[in-house]
Amino acid sequence: MKIGVIGSGKIGGALGTHWAKAGHEVLFTSRHPEQLTQLAKEAGGKAKAVSLDEAWEANADVYLLAVPFKAIDKLAELYAGEYGNKVIIDATNPYPERDGEMAQEVRDSNRNASEYTAMKFGTAKTAKAFNTIYSDHLRDRAFQTTDKLAIPFAAQDEDSKNITQQLIEDIGFDAVYIGGLEKTNLMDPEQKIYGKSTNRKHLEELITK
Ligand SMILES: NC(=O)c1ccc[n+]([C@@H]2O[C@H](COP(=O)([O-])OP(=O)(O)OC[C@H]3O[C@@H](n4cnc5c(N)ncnc54)[C@H](OP(=O)(O)O)[C@@H]3O)[C@@H](O)[C@H]2O)c1
Repeated sequence: MKIGVIGSGKIGGALGTHWAKAGHEVLFTSRHPEQLTQLAKEAGGKAKAVSLDEAWEANADVYLLAVPFKAIDKLAELYAGEYGNKVIIDATNPYPERDGEMAQEVRDSNRNASEYTAMKFGTAKTAKAFNTIYSDHLRDRAFQTTDKLAIPFAAQDEDSKNITQQLIEDIGFDAVYIGGLEKTNLMDPEQKIYGKSTNRKHLEELITK
């Protein structure tokens, strides 16, 4: 698949590197793509560092959102012409101390963070994944054949569900589907499965408890 990695820091950098190693075509981007050439080189395979415009215009199969939550509004507005019908995997979390008032408003609202992203990227198909795992675990515990970590995910439709599941499994994690975006409250900061790096069985127990 062609994957646009929007925000290539701890989360986007680790995931893009894993996907490149799994054979995907990865486009790393941020506001400073010139700082991402080494990351792309180290990721190898078909990875490249490109500008934000280039990434969105590249007609990728899927986009990973791994930016600070506060960046969502502007990205959704700026690239509305590009992401229609695309799958967006949202790995972001609202942190008022970093993202300001808009993150507090989302936390206080009766909408999950993923539903906020889906509302902003209204013409895309949104999935939520990779927001509950620590970046060090994401970086260091991919491609395990035993003692796999489980990644919970939710999705808006069949297409976003299948693509997200495949991209989790391609890099050696177990994918645990929790349902539609309305179910993602338990994935949000400080909620039931947030920050829980664990295996499938334990994760499923936590979800059903
Ligand atoms: N760190 C964790 O353990 C962890 C775990 C799960 C989820 N998350 C969530 O994942 C997201 C990313 O976290 P992170 O730890 O990877 O952050 P990070 O290391 O600070 O990386 C953020 C990336 O986003 C880029 N960026 C910032 N503003 C942007 C904008 N307006 N447009 C495009 N790119 C922009 C940054 O590059 P430039 O500044 O050069 O643009 C950087 O490449 C956050 O929402 C975070 O809450 C983090």
